[in-house]
Amino acid sequence: MKVAVKSWLLAGFAGMLSACGGNGDTAGQKETGVVQSADWPTHGRTPEAQRFSPLSSINLSNINRLGLAWSVDLETNAGQEATPIMRDGILYIASAYNIVRAVDARSGKTLWVYDPDVREASARSCCGPVSRGVAVENGRVFVGALDGRLIALDAKTGKPVWEVQTLDQDHPPAVNYTITGAPRIVKGKVIIGNGGAEFGARGYVSAYDMATGKRVWRFYTVPGKPGTQDGEISDQPLKDIAASTWHGEYWRWGGGGTVWDSIEYDPELDLLYIGVGNGSPTNHGIRSAGKGDNLFLSSIVALKPDTGKYVWHYQETPGEAWDYTATQPIIFADIEMNGAKHKVLMQAPKNGFFYILDRATGKLLAADPIARTTWASHIDLKTGRPVENPEARYYLTNQPALVFPSSGGAHNWQPMSYSPETGLVYIPVQDMGLPFAGEADIARQAGVYNSGTIMTGGAAMNDADLKEAMKQMKGYLLAWDPVRRKVAWRKELAATFNGGVLATGGGIVFQGNGARKLAAYNAKDGTLLWSFDAQTGIVAPPITYAIDGVQYIAVMAGWGGAWPMLGGQFAEQPANGVGNNRLLVFKLDGKARLPAPEGSAYLPFDPPADTAPAAVVARGDSLYGQYCLRCHGIGAVSASMVPDLRRSGYLADSNFDQIVVDGALSSMGMPSFKGVLDARDVAAIRAYLIHRANRDKAMMLPSSQR
Ligand code: HEC
Repeated sequence: MKVAVKSWLLAGFAGMLSACGGNGDTAGQKETGVVQSADWPTHGRTPEAQRFSPLSSINLSNINRLGLAWSVDLETNAGQEATPIMRDGILYIASAYNIVRAVDARSGKTLWVYDPDVREASARSCCGPVSRGVAVENGRVFVGALDGRLIALDAKTGKPVWEVQTLDQDHPPAVNYTITGAPRIVKGKVIIGNGGAEFGARGYVSAYDMATGKRVWRFYTVPGKPGTQDGEISDQPLKDIAASTWHGEYWRWGGGGTVWDSIEYDPELDLLYIGVGNGSPTNHGIRSAGKGDNLFLSSIVALKPDTGKYVWHYQETPGEAWDYTATQPIIFADIEMNGAKHKVLMQAPKNGFFYILDRATGKLLAADPIARTTWASHIDLKTGRPVENPEARYYLTNQPALVFPSSGGAHNWQPMSYSPETGLVYIPVQDMGLPFAGEADIARQAGVYNSGTIMTGGAAMNDADLKEAMKQMKGYLLAWDPVRRKVAWRKELAATFNGGVLATGGGIVFQGNGARKLAAYNAKDGTLLWSFDAQTGIVAPPITYAIDGVQYIAVMAGWGGAWPMLGGQFAEQPANGVGNNRLLVFKLDGKARLPAPEGSAYLPFDPPADTAPAAVVARGDSLYGQYCLRCHGIGAVSASMVPDLRRSGYLADSNFDQIVVDGALSSMGMPSFKGVLDARDVAAIRAYLIHRANRDKAMMLPSSQR
């Protein structure tokens, strides 16, 4: 059995851990705002957020000498998604459970650790207790916590200076929201959104005064109940532009549109761009009576940063119904297209198309598929709208549909990068589909999945289709030429789910992957140049920085987030390796070694006989999707630290009820469902799990005999 969380975490270790002394003296003292080319001062490194560094000491001629300089063990086996920030010789990282750490960027010595103690709140995160990082400015470190707090720390000591609760305490319930994104600092304000559309949430983004934590403005991305107003800057555009695109009783679930990742600011145009998320519930039939575009879901919205005032929007997926967010990273560039110079923004959202917009006006310049897109054949550049395949709207046809891309997207939050030297955008792409089937009704409890779709693939597909879909799942590192609007090169990777990307002036692209490696490729043609065995899957993006002329590459290694959940969909990926989570830092001639890896053993399939009637299994499938899927994986296939229930020895005995209902493992992070699920529900879920286990045992792929 794998260990869920290292033991000290479970001991409820709260507040400050330690201030280990060391030389934290330079942190934050210098006047900020000047980007030193050797630092990695903000999430995307510069306002363009290209994740390109001109540093070139590590280059094509010496990459083979790259080695581990040092590493820092992280206290958990949960997923690592953060971009480290490096300012004035100090690295600031956020681990799972929002544990913030300052580390001497040259020696690897930990200077301080801050733990906001969000273990309890972590149970409500859609995709694991992950954090995509911190912001550092004016001697302060800002972190958004899973429980909705925005916290400012003293960069020298790690002690909290102020904290505010950013969650709307009224409707829909605050318990449905989490913060996983990195805050951004714009003109003296901290900008932060949140996630939660899987549970029932109404999206918004807020700005807080950096010095005091006082709220300056809030922008809701979707309308509230008709006839009501929020008294916020978003009231007018929601009334004038968005309201008429909504139908039915969407406000009961919040409508969605959470701003959980991408927020970028262009100082030249003084515009703030937010990437807006999917619908809540996902099923457009339930959400909006199957009608309307539902603005500003799946859109990029440009706002004035001082006030939050609306400037323009572009919607990528009108009437979103497949969890197609537009929250994916946004990159700015100045490029020539169709004979004219444009200030553009580029995004590869979940829906599988690569978009280029004029960022002053929001005008669409290009949209091209970068993976299979069966929901739409193309984007009409004249109207800016997708040309859809009607079969993809499963709730209108009442037929399950295998739709590409999956709800995980052809590209997700893992940052892409752009090299001004090659003119190419490097995108981590996953080419896979997902069966969608509509549900007639959904639970209205707080804190459970309320998507209105069955995304298990179990009941919706026959075994042959499922097997075929499994075989077709592919992961790529894609180099996209935005000017010629075509693929420059494409490298197929061993795993479907992989990490964010860094491009450097050394002509190299760095990417971690689901096959446990940090790898370096030639930026021009994708030739593999170097790789390092990280002992765990990597999803976080690498960064680079230099101190005293020595260039370093840093990455958070740790498998998790949404991938184990989705990877489970068609399941049997090569083992991704959970555990051994670390901050890894490399330099030329680095000689450090990692300790021998901890093994991870998977239990064999040993289910009881599959005797339950199909109707019971189908009910169990649906209940599983609402209550268990987000931790135990789609199709009950877990590739994470949470047990794979198809392999659980408890399927056969009464311990199952004691665990699920009585909370026998609640101290280990397995919630009790007492008062939520009755005996009949639990029996149906167990019947579904037994069915899944028998079926997968019978159809296991050879590669997955783990
Ligand atoms: C918030 C995350 C979460 C949710 C939601 C969740 N579980 Fe769990 N579950 C866990 C964790 C973590 C463990 C491992 C606990 C441990 O280390 O023993 C676990 C363990 C279990 C086990 C024991 C497995 C074994 O062989 O050791 C069973 C059975 C189980 N869960 C069933 C369910 C069912 C059924 C549901 C939905 C009704 C569900 N869980 C929902 C997190 C979750």
